[in-house]
Parts: sequence; structure tokens; C-alpha cells
Amino acid sequence: MAVRPILLHPDPRLRRRAEPVAAITPEIARMAEDMLATMYDAPGIGLAAPQVGVSKRLVVMDCVKQADAPPRPMVLVNPEVTWRSPETRIYEEGCLSIPETFAEIERPATVRVRWTGLDGAAREEPFEGLWATCVQHEIDHLDGRLFIDRLSPLRRQLITRRMEKLKRERARA
Ligand code: NI
Repeated sequence: MAVRPILLHPDPRLRRRAEPVAAITPEIARMAEDMLATMYDAPGIGLAAPQVGVSKRLVVMDCVKQADAPPRPMVLVNPEVTWRSPETRIYEEGCLSIPETFAEIERPATVRVRWTGLDGAAREEPFEGLWATCVQHEIDHLDGRLFIDRLSPLRRQLITRRMEKLKRERARA
């Protein structure tokens, strides 16, 4: 397993619509392991393949937050939302590609998601609470969308300017 560098906004690779995974190959399985290692290392609760520069519809998540609870790593290949609840939930979201930036985002409180597991089997389950917020945020990444797209244009511009500055500073360091 290898921790991969995470792309930072703004980056055109974060804005592409990712391609479906055609088959669960050993490369895809290794990519999922690397993404989990990268996510736990960050640390974060979700990571989408475009964030490590791979334009494939692949997401990893683990929204277990209690330190004493066992981890629950999930790998979702070609995930898609099949149902959204009319009830919504507001959560202060962040993103590993936009460090130190948090904003309250409103999304459906419960969603049903269909995906393929690393074993090749199709699955469909409801996601609730933090899992629902996270899976919607990660699927947005697969469509080239970031949570800041849901903010006002002015606020998004301020965040993008701050990120450009941060990236320049990191490039110099
Ligand atoms: Ni994100």
C-alpha cells in the first residue's frame, strides 16, 4: 500500500467527469488500497480517485469517527445515487483537496446508493447521517464537482484565491 499525493484545488483534473471502471482488475484493487491508505494517513473520511489524479469512478470511505470503534473501510466502484430523501441535513463539510476550509452544506439526509464491490458484486444500500453526506460529496468529485460549488460565487472565489496562494507557497517550500 502506498500513500499517494492528493491534488489541491484549483486543478483541472479535479474538474473532469471520471470514467466508469470497466472491470475490477488487480490495478483497481491496488488503487483502492492506496486510496484507503492515503485517506487514513491524511486523515480523512472519504477520498475519490480524481483526488489522486486518476479519472475513474472509484471512491473509498470510512465515516467511523469514534477512536475506540473498529474501522469500517468501504470501497465503492461506479457508485450512483438511486434515491434521495426529501428531508435534508446540514453538515460542516471539508475536503482533502481544499485544506483548512469548512462550510455548512445542505444535502438529502438519506440516499440509496448502488455500486460494485471489489469482489465484482453489485450492492445497493441506504446511507444515513455522516455516511450520506460523505458519499454524496465523494460522488460529486466523480462528476468534477466540489463542495465549494454549492457556496456563493464570491465565497468560492475567495477560497480559490486562498488556495492558489497556498499552492504557490507549497511549491516554493
Ligand atoms: Ni472532497
